Amino acid sequence: MEEVTTYEKLGEENLKLLIERFYDLVFSDQRISHLFKTDKELIKEKQRLFLTQFLGGPPLYSQRYGHPQMRARHMPHPITEDDAVAWLSCMSSAISSLNISESLKDELFKRFVPTAMFMVNTETTSE
Ligand code: HEM
Repeated sequence: MEEVTTYEKLGEENLKLLIERFYDLVFSDQRISHLFKTDKELIKEKQRLFLTQFLGGPPLYSQRYGHPQMRARHMPHPITEDDAVAWLSCMSSAISSLNISESLKDELFKRFVPTAMFMVNTETTSE
């Protein structure tokens, strides 16, 4: 029997809510907001397409934009380990705000940790 995907457990509406809340946090986060230079609505839409497929739903991002190659797409943006931790803390708060089971919250957050760490492309410089 096929396993139920994280995408199916979460549902489209909760995914949209997650993305709304996540980018509200990111765009007001002093640690990482400066990295985001394009339109907030566009990045939310891209993330909706990407996370749909990342969590096991239909490959909406690939259909629109081609192979995700997320690490390569993040290369123009210098991302340190601290930035990844800040990104994950925004994601954790956004996940916590959803009305879903604790086990699904856990399952979701665990999907993001290795991917966020994989995006790190710049060494932290000590100040
Ligand atoms: C580790 C910390 C991360 C930082 C600091 C970061 C930052 C960014 C930035 C600055 C952009 C470009 C936004 C713009 O166009 O202005 C971007 C795009 C994007 N990020 Fe991240 N990101 C991180 C991790 C992730 C992770 C873990 C995922 C997915 C699970 C992700 C998914 C995306 C997607 C889908 C886009 C849009 C790509 C496109 O242009 O088509 N990011 N990110």
